[in-house]
Amino acid sequence: MELPTNRAAWLIKADTPLEIREAPMPTPGPGELVVHNAVVGINHVDNWMLEAGVFVKQWPTVIGNDVAGTVYAVGSDVERFKKGDRVIGHGMTLVTGRPEDGAFALYTIVSADRAAILPNSIAFKDGVVLPLAVGAAACALFNQQPGEVMPGVPLALLGLPYPSVQRPVPSSGKTLVVYGGSSTVGAVVTQLATAVGVTVITITGAHNFGLSQRCGAVEVIDHKDSAITEKVGAAVAKYGGFIGIIVAIATPDTYPTALAILAALGGGHLACTHPPPADVPANVKASMIFSVNDASIPLFRDYLTPALEAGKLLCVPPPIVAGKGLESIQDALKKAKAGLSAAKMVVEL
Ligand SMILES: NC(=O)c1ccc[n+]([C@@H]2O[C@H](COP(=O)([O-])OP(=O)(O)OC[C@H]3O[C@@H](n4cnc5c(N)ncnc54)[C@H](OP(=O)(O)O)[C@@H]3O)[C@@H](O)[C@H]2O)c1
Repeated sequence: MELPTNRAAWLIKADTPLEIREAPMPTPGPGELVVHNAVVGINHVDNWMLEAGVFVKQWPTVIGNDVAGTVYAVGSDVERFKKGDRVIGHGMTLVTGRPEDGAFALYTIVSADRAAILPNSIAFKDGVVLPLAVGAAACALFNQQPGEVMPGVPLALLGLPYPSVQRPVPSSGKTLVVYGGSSTVGAVVTQLATAVGVTVITITGAHNFGLSQRCGAVEVIDHKDSAITEKVGAAVAKYGGFIGIIVAIATPDTYPTALAILAALGGGHLACTHPPPADVPANVKASMIFSVNDASIPLFRDYLTPALEAGKLLCVPPPIVAGKGLESIQDALKKAKAGLSAAKMVVEL
């Protein structure tokens, strides 16, 4: 039987077009899988790595974080997976710097800790929207280890309990605002917070209220509404137990509004997907989310597969297939950079 060969979309140096050519076939180390990628997802960080070499530790490199495909090989100490399993996984090239951990290849190494079986009923192109967003959402909601993302910028530390498909979900009495509820990160944060009994109020575009409600939001407020602060405040007042805001869309536009909401509600967590504003009032606990965080491991291990099977976790926002083959990744990155509304760009291989 002819052995398969690997190919990858190589980034030779920052701000150059990806080059599609052969790559070594990865060998899984202990606790690792090699995934034969069927679909890969595009994330904002991929464009920063491409354009500016952010996080790149060695050249040439292979970037990309989200994979969905079949297990091709398993390393020692891997018990949850076997060759042929359908999986989704979060590739770690962003922290390891190893090209073989990059998603933009036919075969990628994924840590078994950050992979989950994808039920047969769910297409690879749907499942692939989740992995990196699960990493970010897990850090935002469940992290219990204090730390810093960068000097002086604390890691998000809400420390909520993990969800379980088996357990009924009693109300936690807590209310959270998710700013950017229709983004990929916001949609997963909304679902996972709802899954642990947190009441979630989201802020999205008016055309995406339905999507956010499907994720579990009890109230949705339009981010273009001029009375956004008052409306969020009124919504929170109905439920009580306000603990803070997860800012999935962390920009110079959203920070002043988030701070105004926190001021009106007496303070709370301000957990952002980018470095939070430097000067915040004493009653605001500002922090940053980082998707590469051990807080996601229990979700990949215990929650994602049963929750997907039970329909308790949706693969949203829905994918847009930008094209087929490694050659389509460059164009997909460009399309993702142009901006999407409640959608995730993916490429079939
Ligand atoms: N720190 C980390 O580890 C980490 C991990 C993942 C992502 N991120 C960052 O998190 C951010 C979100 O990533 P993503 O992939 O989830 O983004 P995304 O899916 O591309 O976000 C698109 C969404 O942003 C929403 N949006 C734009 N402006 C908004 C505003 N003013 N208020 C509310 N919503 C607004 C749009 O909502 P409407 O269409 O409804 O208007 C759209 O649906 C990015 O900046 C990304 O770089 C960080």
